[in-house]
Amino acid sequence: MTHTPPRIVAIGEVMVELAPVQSDVYQRGFAGDTFNTAWHIRQLLAEKAQVGYVTHLGQDALSDQLIAEMRADGLDTSGVKRDADRTMGLYVIALQNAERSFHYWRGQSAARRLADDPMWLAKSLKDASLVHLSGITVAILDAAGRDRLLAALVQARRDGAKVSFDPNIRPGLWTSSDEIRQTIPRFLDVTDIALPSFDDEAAHFGDATPAATIMRLATSGIREIVVKNGAGAVTARINAQELEVKTPSVTSVIDTSGAGDAFNAGYLAARLLGRDPEVSIAEGQAIAGQVIGCRGARIPKRQMAAL
Ligand SMILES: Nc1ncnc2c1ncn2[C@@H]1O[C@H](COP(=O)(O)OP(=O)(O)O)[C@@H](O)[C@H]1O
Ligand SMILES: [Mg+2]
Repeated sequence: MTHTPPRIVAIGEVMVELAPVQSDVYQRGFAGDTFNTAWHIRQLLAEKAQVGYVTHLGQDALSDQLIAEMRADGLDTSGVKRDADRTMGLYVIALQNAERSFHYWRGQSAARRLADDPMWLAKSLKDASLVHLSGITVAILDAAGRDRLLAALVQARRDGAKVSFDPNIRPGLWTSSDEIRQTIPRFLDVTDIALPSFDDEAAHFGDATPAATIMRLATSGIREIVVKNGAGAVTARINAQELEVKTPSVTSVIDTSGAGDAFNAGYLAARLLGRDPEVSIAEGQAIAGQVIGCRGARIPKRQMAAL
């Protein structure tokens, strides 16, 4: 009997990253929140899962390099569409007195069109058991794109997929706070697993505590809610079971970028393997703890292999 591994599909934007290695010299990498999550899930589960990424790229050399890297790292690229007249978004990390700042050129990226073709979207999500997206995926789309993405998620759920959603609120990608407050709940309505970070939710929805975030999201009918809170405990409500899991302290915090994305990967991978909520949260914390101990938003492959 052949056993088909579960198919996981993440949707969003991968950007070219330029990170300083010495004064005025930059290293080219690739990153993006949902991409970081998909990549870590694949490294954690290897052949136990099929992990695909859905986006639009250009037809240029950098887009070719990303596709080659994705394939080499075991990601399925059949959901990547190539646009002749667009390129990938870019960000540059600037260092000033050890303070890192991020500078973006992503307004015209190919990924902004990822929901332009409903047939392509539907085909890319077909047979998925888990579809992962974030508020960044939503934020980069225009109103019609958001409607098409919602429709595709509704269909995927009808076909048996679960949807995981990290609101990952980045005010710079939205036109107003009102737009955030009106749009995010529409996606929570099609979410099975919510993975917010408390500081984002407090800032935009006024939640006083992680428990308040859980209460608010539960009104959308979400049965699996996991609230991250930096070094603080993770608070969750999963099928009416409430739990709080202390976050182990990390002694050398080098770069916190990608912590939330890595947490999502550890948590979702463990849940896909059938682990219980507490163990899955601990797995998320372990992967996030590793990522903040390294530079960049992904754990180096060698280190991943040892996990
Ligand atoms: N200072 C820290 N010490 C230990 N773990 C951390 C720290 N910051 C983040 N983490 C881990 O990363 C996860 C996500 O962090 P958080 O800051 O809430 O997300 P985001 O990166 O999305 O802002 C936390 O749940 C925790 O497991
Ligand atoms: Mg986050």
